[in-house]
Amino acid sequence: MSAKDQKSSNASKKRPRNDVGNKVTVVLGGQWGDEGKGKVVDLLATESDIVCRCQGGNNAGHTVVVEGKEYDFHLLPSGIINSKATSFIGNGVVIHLPGLFEEGDKNEKKGLKDWEKRLVISDRAHIVFDFHQAVDGLQEVQRQAQEGKNIGTTRKGIGPTYSSKASRTGLRICDLLSDFKEFSTRFKLLAQQYQDMFPTLEVDTEAQLKKLQEFAERIRPMVQDGVYFMYEALHGAPKNILVEGANAALLDIDFGTYPFVTSSNCTVGGVCTGLGIPPQNVGDVYGVVKAYTTRVGIGAFPTEQLNDVGELLQTRGHEVGVTTGRKRRCGWLDLVILRYAHMINGFTALALTKLDILDEMDEIKVGVAYKLNGKRIPYFPANMEVLQKVEVEYEKLPGWKSDTSLCRRWDDLPAKAQNYIRFVENHVGVPIKWVGVGKSRECMIQMF
Ligand code: GDP
Ligand code: IMO
Ligand code: MG
Repeated sequence: MSAKDQKSSNASKKRPRNDVGNKVTVVLGGQWGDEGKGKVVDLLATESDIVCRCQGGNNAGHTVVVEGKEYDFHLLPSGIINSKATSFIGNGVVIHLPGLFEEGDKNEKKGLKDWEKRLVISDRAHIVFDFHQAVDGLQEVQRQAQEGKNIGTTRKGIGPTYSSKASRTGLRICDLLSDFKEFSTRFKLLAQQYQDMFPTLEVDTEAQLKKLQEFAERIRPMVQDGVYFMYEALHGAPKNILVEGANAALLDIDFGTYPFVTSSNCTVGGVCTGLGIPPQNVGDVYGVVKAYTTRVGIGAFPTEQLNDVGELLQTRGHEVGVTTGRKRRCGWLDLVILRYAHMINGFTALALTKLDILDEMDEIKVGVAYKLNGKRIPYFPANMEVLQKVEVEYEKLPGWKSDTSLCRRWDDLPAKAQNYIRFVENHVGVPIKWVGVGKSRECMIQMF
């Protein structure tokens, strides 16, 4: 057969078709967390068949307000409110089992029904043990004593659990549900390793194992092979699949303000690694950003306002951490970090939340660039000492001085508020699809 004939014969053979399947819609925090991701997820979840968490643990605190009732979610996807949707906790999430059931029980009292029946948990997710949480606290005390400062973690055991995962000594849900004797041996070894590091750490291993065995039976019906679950979701009938990011870009372990970050990838890459899905299945990526900036915990914050402005934002915005009850630090909107978050995540569009909190301002400042030694820099500094030194260049915009909380359409907004929104859009180079003007579901203006 000639080379030409060979080629045409190959071409005529039936080749497998690359069926991409359904795409997931992703919601990610674009600042230092608490941008209102819960609210945006709730809005989109009403149309979703599956709502997934792909990273983080119960360090997240997502608030959803529906019909005057306020729910807070930490480990459960906020979409659990939608009784028609399945919620999925992927392999990239770290799970504290007592925390999960406490959260479910607490929300059940508020009216959440049958959440256990609607939850699927990946068998590859790592487990946060009580001693991981204790070690989180001990490491903070150690940092304070040795370095004179800590990170201000949520003390939910996130750092220690991801450390165990990376050290290959961690234990996963699949381990808990298979041979309990083997699990117990590895559990004791892991506990002992931490006790060697922290001699004051007390672990009642027998009591812990007894509790874990009980939890094992409670979660057994929810656990599935996560990769296969997602594969079926992507390749079955058309479905709306939503991914709820936790924490945020500037808290990302690789791209955040290291070392004052969390221990997972809260940027778009975490979606693939935390669910076990190919990049071709990532569809729209929505960034959630507050109309100003907040941060909980320690670390550089170039536009922070340690003055009346910061206090006004803190009180008007009720800026108190959902997970730890700490006051959030507040400052002006920083477009440098939004552009940086966009470089990494490639946002399709943004949700600009809490615009209403700026209603009383005479004048609003927006950080538009950073200068180092008097020269503008086009990148976001990796090093904390350098970031502490940047000088922020601001632009001043006039305040609108009127109540926006009842606005429901673009045309209802005062011209100066519209101007603020357009300014942000143009400087980040991403369209703003939603504008938040209040806590509840209906307080969201959809722009297109
Ligand atoms: P998440 O962690 O990103 O889900 O955000 P949090 O729930 O930690 O914090 C956001 C807070 O702002 C919550 O109390 C929300 O109810 C509230 N919130 C969200 N969007 C808006 C908004 O547009 N206006 C006002 N006033 N509050 C909002
Ligand atoms: P949501 O999903 C705000 C911060 C902590 C601390 C640092 C490390 O509600 O936006 P960790 O316990 O993760 O080791 O803490 O990260 N942090 C958050 N801040 N919102 C969050 O989540 C956060 N998750 C972690 O305050 O500074
Ligand atoms: Mg939060």
